[in-house]
Formats: sequence, C-alpha cells, structure tokens
Amino acid sequence: NIYSIILCGGSGTRLWPLSRKSFPKQFLSLGSDKKSLLQLSLDRVKNISPPKNRWIVTAKGQEDICSKQVGSNADRIIIEPEARNTAPAIALTAWQLMKEDPESIMVILSSDHSIQNVRSFEQTIYDAVHLAKQNFFVTVGIQPTYPATGFGYIEQGLPLDIEGNILSPQKLTETSATGYSVRSFREKPNQAAAEQFLRTQKYLWNAGIFVWKTKTFWNAFSHIQAETASLIESITPDNLAEVYSKIENSPIDIAFIEQTSHVACVPANFDWNDVGSWSAVRECFEQDNQGNNVSGDVFHLETKNSIIHTTGPFVSVIGMENVAVVATNDAVLVMPLNRSQDVKKTIQYLETKN
Ligand code: GDD
Ligand code: MG
Repeated sequence: NIYSIILCGGSGTRLWPLSRKSFPKQFLSLGSDKKSLLQLSLDRVKNISPPKNRWIVTAKGQEDICSKQVGSNADRIIIEPEARNTAPAIALTAWQLMKEDPESIMVILSSDHSIQNVRSFEQTIYDAVHLAKQNFFVTVGIQPTYPATGFGYIEQGLPLDIEGNILSPQKLTETSATGYSVRSFREKPNQAAAEQFLRTQKYLWNAGIFVWKTKTFWNAFSHIQAETASLIESITPDNLAEVYSKIENSPIDIAFIEQTSHVACVPANFDWNDVGSWSAVRECFEQDNQGNNVSGDVFHLETKNSIIHTTGPFVSVIGMENVAVVATNDAVLVMPLNRSQDVKKTIQYLETKN
C-alpha cells in the first residue's frame, strides 16, 4: 500500500501579505485555475494513492480551511496540537501507520511545490517506491541552477538499478540508472558551501519528497531520535498536546536524513519549484507576454517581469520592471523581486509591534 502524506502545516511567511498565519500559503490559489497549492498537491497523487491512502498533516488552527479544501479527496487529516516542524509531523504519521499498516510505503510530499509534468513526477515516485521496497530512504533530486541556500543538498554516489543494486560501468552502457546512492546530505548550507557544491557538479537539490517503507523508517528513526520516538509512542488521545509540546522542534532533513545511512536519490525529470517567495510565484505561474504575473483588479503599463496581485483595492503599476506589488484589504507590499527573501523582515517587524 502506498500512502501519500502531504505536509501542510507550514506558515509561509515570505508570501505576506497574501499568506497569513491564519491563512498560510498552501491554501492560496495563485494560478488561474483557482486551485490552491494544497489542492494541486492532492491532484498530483491521483494515480499514486487512492483517496483512502491520502493523508494530510496539518497544525491546529488550520484544520478547518484544510478540511474544506480537501473535501473527499483525502481520507484523513492528522492535526498536530502545534507546529513543531517536519520531523515530529512525519514521525507522528509514521507511528500511526506502524499501528495500522507497517508494511506500507510512505510518499511524503510538501504542499508548497509547483510541479509541471505530472506523468514524469509519477514515474519518479514509482522508481522511488521500487528502491524503498529495498529498504532505501529515497529522496528526489533536482538539478541545481544556482547556489540556493534555502534547499537541502544531496551528494550523489553510485548508480543503482531498479532493485537497488550498484550498476557496474559496463552494465551502465546497457541500462540506465534508476537512482543513486547518497554519499552525504546537507540541509540549507551557507552561501560559500552552496557555491562549492555547485562547482563540484556532484550535488542535487533535495526536492523535499521522501519515499520509504514505514517499518524501515520507524526502526531507523527510533534509533537516531530515540527521545522523540518514545514520546510519540507514548501519545494517547488524552495526552497528545502535553506530549507534543515536549518534542524537539526539528526538520526531518536534519533530524533524520543527514544522520541516517542507506539513503538513495532518484533524479527528477520534471520541472519543480518551491513556491517559497514572490519571485518563485512569478516563475511558477502564468505570465503575460511581458513576463508579468497579474491577478485581481489591476491596470499596468510598460511594466515587465513583475508580480501584481490584489485581493483588495484596484492597483495600477506604470513603467516598472522586476517588482512585486501585492495588495490586500489591510496591507500593501512593494519591493524589487530580488528582495523577495526579505519579506520575512516585515513579519518580524509586525510581531514586535503587536
Ligand atoms: N504538518 C506540518 N507541521 N507541516 C509542516 C510543518 C509542521 O510543523 N512545518 C512545515 N510543514 C510543511 C510545509 O507546509 C511544507 O509543505 C513542507 O512541510 C516543507 O516545509 P518548509 O518549511 O516549506 O521546508 P523548506 O522548504 O524550508 O525545506 C524543505 O523543502 C526543501 C524543498 O522545498 C527541506 O526538505 C529542504 O531540504 C528542501 O530542499
Ligand atoms: Mg518549502
């Protein structure tokens, strides 16, 4: 049984003012088809898991929007009492599956990705499932295009066939590799390390998609993160919030992937992006012939390669290039797109003000 687990508890602060604590980015519809990032993520697993094997993991406070958007397209919404990053979210889900279906395969996906070619996404997942059946912890690798510091980096090792055996150079001439062993993994390196990784040409970006057998994962995870695992095993319906608050806040990449062995990687053949910033939104969604991504009541003139979004007042933009102008009923953001990472400073400011 293949379970598609969609992580949906992030806060997405860099898409402010559209993304808010009470309405994070995974629930936003940014394209013209009116589906939210979460709904697009669910569409993508249509052929991978039947609805009863689709689970969403979200944090308290988001469960209502979540269930409204999910409808009957997923069987279960797991609600964390508070967001403690992805390691606890994944562990909580894995433990549930250990009790219900330990031989299952978990396909763990983010709800903030844009993926263009669904057929080749499916093929990549099926290849990953094959390797997971051989007890690999499988990551999906993206060819890097710039020294990003917001992604994890996967150091590619030896080529593997579909059964997970190492392919000799001779065999490689007859058949192509399904995946690669992974030498090392580094979550969000600094700029210098990212530049170094890019130069060696041996690294791929981590797409944030993980595929493994539930039982294999739980065995390894409870070894590496013994405390978190035993806390999770002690959860009952009555003590969930109390126990959860004691669990260390940590992403799966650092809590597990960086530390475990037997990691494999399947390189992706699809267009992928983390819709993490306004400049990524422009790249991921429809552009007019001037390279603008526009939504809402907008007029623009002699403006290029920009984002203009409004859910509030009418917005007019004249003679601008490479900018974001985003308006809602109570806030307006104006910035050059290359400052997209700095939006979180606004949030920090607003938090000190309140
Ligand atoms: N349920 C739940 N609870 N979900 C969460 C939580 C949480 O506490 N925190 C984050 N998520 C969800 C987010 O909504 C998103 O869908 C996914 O988990 C990944 O979290 P991000 O916060 O977006 O991670 P990231 O983008 O900084 O880094 C990860 O993804 C990159 C690729 O997009 C890492 O895996 C990187 O290595 C990777 O390159
Ligand atoms: Mg992300």
